[in-house]
Amino acid sequence: MEKFYLFPLFLLYFLSLLLFSSAYTPQNKYFINCGSKSNITVNGRNFVGDSNSNSLSFSVGPSSTVSDTNSSTNNSLYQTARIFTNPSFYEFDIIDKGTYYVRIHFFTFVSGRTNLADALFDVSVSDFYLLSNFALQNNSNSPVIEEFLLTINGSKFSIQFTPHKNSFAFVSAVEVFLTPPNFTTDGFPHVTPIGENGDYYGIPSQVFRTIHRVNVGGPKTNDTLWRNWIPDDEYLLSAGSAKTCASYNGTLNYDVIGGTNYSAPDLVYKTCKELNLTVNKGSNSSNISWQFGVSKSSRHMVRLHFCDIISKDPYLLKFNLYIYSYFSQMIYPYEKTDQVAAPFYWDFVVDSDNSGYLNISVGPREDSTTKTAYLNGVEIMEFIKESDFVHIPGNRKKVIFVVVGTVCGVTFVFILAVLFLLKRMRAKHVDGVGSKPEGGVECNEEPLRGDNGSDISGVFSQIEIDGAR
Ligand SMILES: *[C@@H]1O[C@H](CO)[C@@H](O)[C@H](O)[C@H]1NC(C)=O
Ligand SMILES: *[C@@H]1O[C@H](CO)[C@@H](O)[C@H](O)[C@H]1NC(C)=O
Ligand SMILES: *[C@@H]1O[C@H](CO)[C@@H](O)[C@H](O)[C@H]1NC(C)=O
Ligand SMILES: *[C@@H]1O[C@H](CO)[C@@H](O)[C@H](O)[C@H]1NC(C)=O
Ligand SMILES: *[C@@H]1O[C@H](CO)[C@@H](O)[C@H](O)[C@H]1NC(C)=O
Ligand SMILES: *[C@@H]1O[C@H](CO)[C@@H](O)[C@H](O)[C@H]1NC(C)=O
Ligand SMILES: *[C@@H]1O[C@H](CO)[C@@H](O)[C@H](O)[C@H]1NC(C)=O
Ligand SMILES: *[C@@H]1O[C@H](CO)[C@@H](O)[C@H](O)[C@H]1NC(C)=O
Ligand SMILES: *[C@@H]1O[C@H](CO)[C@@H](O)[C@H](O)[C@H]1NC(C)=O
Ligand SMILES: *[C@@H]1O[C@H](CO)[C@@H](O)[C@H](O)[C@H]1NC(C)=O
Ligand SMILES: *[C@@H]1O[C@H](CO)[C@@H](O)[C@H](O)[C@H]1NC(C)=O
Ligand SMILES: *[C@@H]1O[C@H](CO)[C@@H](O)[C@H](O)[C@H]1NC(C)=O
Repeated sequence: MEKFYLFPLFLLYFLSLLLFSSAYTPQNKYFINCGSKSNITVNGRNFVGDSNSNSLSFSVGPSSTVSDTNSSTNNSLYQTARIFTNPSFYEFDIIDKGTYYVRIHFFTFVSGRTNLADALFDVSVSDFYLLSNFALQNNSNSPVIEEFLLTINGSKFSIQFTPHKNSFAFVSAVEVFLTPPNFTTDGFPHVTPIGENGDYYGIPSQVFRTIHRVNVGGPKTNDTLWRNWIPDDEYLLSAGSAKTCASYNGTLNYDVIGGTNYSAPDLVYKTCKELNLTVNKGSNSSNISWQFGVSKSSRHMVRLHFCDIISKDPYLLKFNLYIYSYFSQMIYPYEKTDQVAAPFYWDFVVDSDNSGYLNISVGPREDSTTKTAYLNGVEIMEFIKESDFVHIPGNRKKVIFVVVGTVCGVTFVFILAVLFLLKRMRAKHVDGVGSKPEGGVECNEEPLRGDNGSDISGVFSQIEIDGAR
């Protein structure tokens, strides 16, 4: 890990020295209105037209532009698009190394003989795929926005568009911007289908694709990082088990136990769902469960947002959080604060099982004065770089558990062996899109810790193989 960081850090250090005297930009940001000559402001973002841009800070590879002469939408950000008939790219200058949000917008329309819905392509960064075999339906009037969270280490960042044979690629708008300080950290509880597996380290070297962002107990909303939150009702397993909390109308105590005004908007922390306690039914056996569709046997970063807006006084309410049925975690903010209405969140790395769902529940605890449980928000992001490593195209799936030892070198030998096998299996298939096994291998230098903080000697590595027939 270190050796990858060294060079860019060095470079950035000198870059920042050079730039310090002139206009130093603490927040790198790019909002691009693809295929257009004009700038358009959307929710405070100035999307710069890339057609006659004399900007030196980003560049576009060989491509052409199309525009929607029949404009079915009034959002002119989507009236133009850039088209790639050969592999091409956008390249951005990066001043501040760090965690970035990257959003890629697609909106289909018909222009002359070109129907953008016919495009079939891959989108990649640094040798791995953000989107592969990507195609859009004729979805009238709603753009498709794909969001990624990744670490940019170098002074250039490029997004490649690769059309498939006899097709083309296109893009309507691009956003690349640095997240606020300390937006993501590392070392989260790792939940796997066989139970908890210590803490997961290595978040900065991963790339995430947002798949769910939910405001529990509240309305659809968007926030200062232009993220869209949707209500939770469609994910609730049993509607009667939960009721909407009385929404909070005081001032939230941000920056007390981790939650900032950037981690989620007010409307997420000021609304929640809590147990529907009824006089007749005992509360102690119930819980609220939400079910989120995910890819089978893939890895996710799950961020759960909480804020005790139910209690009038501190110390009264603790409850349990469950991920699937094999992991539980007590949620109790009053170990760290004596203030109610203080936003906080928990991050987990969760490996999905073979159900195609990720289940999250909250339930009451015997030792709590107030016997209820609540949840304010859910974000689920898939590890896409690891998925490329894990998922090899094919049709029959089987799961192999590889137990690797304490020593990193031993781990490496095992992984090499597995990779060798994977390669041999791949070789029997028609050229598979997407897998770059080498990208997923790394040695964690941090020791993995078990439940009680002790070092554990074994690491389970689940490798799914779509087997050869
Ligand atoms: C578009 O925005 C960029 C960056 O703010 C600015 O440099 C450029 O002059 C603008 N172009 C037009 C046509 O307003
Ligand atoms: C514009 O829309 C009309 C009706 O929606 C359609 O008949 C026509 O072919 C479209 N024109 C172009 C250039 O796509
Ligand atoms: C689009 O703009 C036209 C003219 O400004 C207006 O009449 C129409 O209602 C708008 N459509 C939508 C969906 O906002
Ligand atoms: C998309 O729209 C085009 C033209 O309107 C039509 O020919 C095509 O069949 C549509 N494709 C799908 C998948 O609906
Ligand atoms: C980020 O976290 C580090 C270590 O926890 C802390 O020292 C620093 O002040 C934080 N930065 C901000 C802007 O909160
Ligand atoms: C950033 O550096 C890490 C290693 O420190 C590397 O694994 C990762 O791929 C890099 N991320 C990008 C987007 O290049
Ligand atoms: C975001 O929220 C603002 C204010 O609530 C609203 O005007 C805007 O339409 C929203 N944007 C989207 C894309 O939902
Ligand atoms: C709470 O539970 C009661 C009894 O089971 C039910 O009648 C009521 O509709 C539930 N409330 C909500 C908001 O679902
Ligand atoms: C919240 O607002 C309502 C009216 O909007 C008011 O009656 C109530 O007292 C307020 N609650 C708090 C806790 O401030
Ligand atoms: C968030 O809080 C910081 C200070 O803690 C402030 O500078 C910033 O303007 C706030 N942002 C929003 C969107 O309220
Ligand atoms: C709830 O717990 C109490 C004691 O802790 C017990 O007496 C009661 O039967 C339980 N209710 C249900 C419905 O399990
Ligand atoms: C939730 O409650 C149901 C029934 O009360 C129980 O069967 C289930 O195991 C509970 N789920 C969890 C994760 O505790």
